Amino acid sequence: MNQHLEKLKEFIHQSDAFSEEDKASLLKTVKNAENDLMISEFKLERTEKVKRTTAILLEETIDELEQKRKTIEVANEALSKSLKELKATQAQLIQSEKMASLGELTAGIAHEIQNPLNFVNNFSEISKELLEEMMEELKNGDPEEVHAIANDVIQNLEKINHHGKRADGIVKGMLQHSRSSSGAKEPTDINVLVDEYLRLAYHGLRAKDKSFNASMETQYDTSIGNIPIVPQDIGRVILNLITNAFYAVTEKNKSEENGFQPTVWIATEKKRKTIDISVKDNGHGMPQQVVEKIFQPFFTTKPTGQGTGLGLSLSYDIVKAHGGALKVETQEGEGTQFTIQLPLPKGS
Ligand SMILES: Nc1ncnc2c1ncn2[C@@H]1O[C@H](COP(=O)(O)OP(=O)(O)OP(=O)(O)O)[C@@H](O)[C@H]1O
Ligand SMILES: [Mg+2]
Repeated sequence: MNQHLEKLKEFIHQSDAFSEEDKASLLKTVKNAENDLMISEFKLERTEKVKRTTAILLEETIDELEQKRKTIEVANEALSKSLKELKATQAQLIQSEKMASLGELTAGIAHEIQNPLNFVNNFSEISKELLEEMMEELKNGDPEEVHAIANDVIQNLEKINHHGKRADGIVKGMLQHSRSSSGAKEPTDINVLVDEYLRLAYHGLRAKDKSFNASMETQYDTSIGNIPIVPQDIGRVILNLITNAFYAVTEKNKSEENGFQPTVWIATEKKRKTIDISVKDNGHGMPQQVVEKIFQPFFTTKPTGQGTGLGLSLSYDIVKAHGGALKVETQEGEGTQFTIQLPLPKGS
């Protein structure tokens, strides 16, 4: 028992100041106090134990947290490593998409160069014959005839030069396409650009697949004039959209009865605030769940190995970089229309 309470009890026992009845009551109170004290001591001891256990648990938790922190650190490192790898792969894929679209272009370009080359070959042959004739006329002493032939030769040389320059331009365009964009905007005739890429896309597909055929209908707004764009970048967007449209109508043609006419419409239009370039097709269209994903990189519904799924995501980025928008409207089974909306330059 508690020492002080013991003393108090003794004092009560020995004191003459209290009656026996008071003593009994006082002793009971002391006994109760003693009980309360014991309970409190017991509780205190228990609290101490809980405190010690909590401290141990806390230490364990800290250890565990440290362990977890280390694991997260390792995972973070692995993650940033694979992010780097992913970025490298993505850059590679973008490059290979460029090369693939270059492949699509090459056949078209070969076709385009063939024409000026034919002119150059034919006109130089004719010029050679004309010069031989001229030598004859010189011998004959007919200066008038010599003069006339010389004029013809000059005209032929002008034509050779014109077609040589055209071939030169085509090759330069091709080089620009394979090079990464310089990002420099230059005033460009949108109608000429669209028409050039339409021809390239068409002949490129024809060269790959002789059975490919589709009607093309164009409607160019001649009031547009030159607008500042990065021509090879917007050219690539146009090529992507036209290639997709040709692909869609060809696919639909495979599943349609006779009488279906695969058609692609290309139009340019100067609106109040934008220049719109639209590419419309009467292909198979897209269901809503496809439309939602088409601008995501690598999304494709083409059979494995056929498409990179980068065409539209790259196009979207290019149009965005020009401050424009790329819109899509589609109806399943009916067709699709993509519209490039470029901001109208100030003052036009
Ligand atoms: N004109 C269209 N008609 C129907 N579906 C289209 C059309 N254009 C795009 N799509 C859908 O959008 C998807 C993504 O197009 P995107 O050009 O990004 O890649 P892709 O054409 O599949 O591959 P790649 O361009 O590398 O050949 C296509 O797989 C197709 O499902
Ligand atoms: Mg595509």
